Amino acid sequence: MKIIVTGGAGFIGGNFVHYMIKKYPEYDIICLDKLTYAGNLETLEPVMDNPKFKFVKGDIADREFVYKLFEEEKPDIIVNFAAESHVDRSISDPGIFLQTNIIGTGVLLDACREYGIKRYHQVSTDEVYGDLPLDRPDLFFTETTPLHTSSPYSASKASADLLVLAYHRTFKIPVTISRCSNNYGPYHFPEKLIPLMIANCLNDKPLPVYGKGENVRDWLYVEDHCHAIDLIIHDGKVGEVYNIGGHNERTNLQVVETIIDALGKSRDLIQYVTDRPGHDMRYAIDPTKIHNELGWEPETKFDEGIKRTIDWYLNNKPWWEKIISGEYQNYYEKMYSGR
Ligand code: NAD
Ligand code: DAU
Repeated sequence: MKIIVTGGAGFIGGNFVHYMIKKYPEYDIICLDKLTYAGNLETLEPVMDNPKFKFVKGDIADREFVYKLFEEEKPDIIVNFAAESHVDRSISDPGIFLQTNIIGTGVLLDACREYGIKRYHQVSTDEVYGDLPLDRPDLFFTETTPLHTSSPYSASKASADLLVLAYHRTFKIPVTISRCSNNYGPYHFPEKLIPLMIANCLNDKPLPVYGKGENVRDWLYVEDHCHAIDLIIHDGKVGEVYNIGGHNERTNLQVVETIIDALGKSRDLIQYVTDRPGHDMRYAIDPTKIHNELGWEPETKFDEGIKRTIDWYLNNKPWWEKIISGEYQNYYEKMYSGR
């Protein structure tokens, strides 16, 4: 089996590469990644010398490059993680989100048409469903919840999902889509809530909580996500969407306080800042379909996963300290100063 993992130098794609190489040492895994600000070869360092692994630098939206790669490698499966993934960046600069997330997905699908594929899997997000109100804890996203996006990021991901389903119906490309809730764990880029708060806490810097910190996210440990994708690409039904997540809901303030307490810091570090425009209130996944069809359920409870994540950041300081000492400083200044 030969799998192309796009975006494998990023957070979830990198974890997926490690997961697959460990679980299926006989598979050939090719990582295709543009190495944007979010891509990091150090994440892949442990597998770089593995003869069953290959890294290829390139852009999923570069048609000539992608076709050549398909022609040379003749992959069986594509798992598309490659994306611009940060909501805040999509608000300040939407263009690249349309280019990578929509056009890039279209190019990959065209390559599948041209060269044939056993499975194209699109890694999507629960953000395509919009948000749920805080006063209706009985509501959850199912696979039939209408798409109702809030940010340029989520609109670009929903557009990509529609393309994937259209290529299935019109061209019979064997596709699957997964829509996942917020991931956390090792190798998470420190612009996102959990790693940002861990890094700032360790450096005794203010912890910028948007609005009142009452927004709710449904946290999924990244390894549980990798396991779900593994089941879908092997046993999921072609043409189907699977929601991944479930029952690990926390307000942002609860998450930040958990991190502060675990690191023995003061809650005075919390600084309430201007809210994100269009900020989604609550995400919550109903994972019944993937549970019933594929036997998947999230194995890691938030309290356990957050401990493991904090330990990883404590034990891998060079990985994230290098990131936050570079171009990230300009990003941080632009995003947070005077906010
Ligand atoms: P990330 O930003 O950490 O990594 C994205 C990776 O894609 C990087 O390595 C980057 O270099 C690469 N990339 C970007 N543009 C590219 C292009 N044009 N061609 C090739 N490579 C390119 O993202 P992540 O958090 O790991 O998310 C991975 C996928 O999962 C995304 O599609 C995202 O929408 C989806 N997702 C993420 C979460 C989450 O909580 N992080 C939850 C649900 C879904
Ligand atoms: O739900 C899945 C999505 O989760 C993915 O599709 C996205 O790629 C991923 O980035 C994530 O989106 P969020 O916007 O939920 O994640 P983020 O870590 O940016 O923010 C989580 C919450 O924390 C959100 O309510 C905004 C808030 N926040 C975030 C940051 C960075 C803060 O309060 N302060 C911050 O500094």
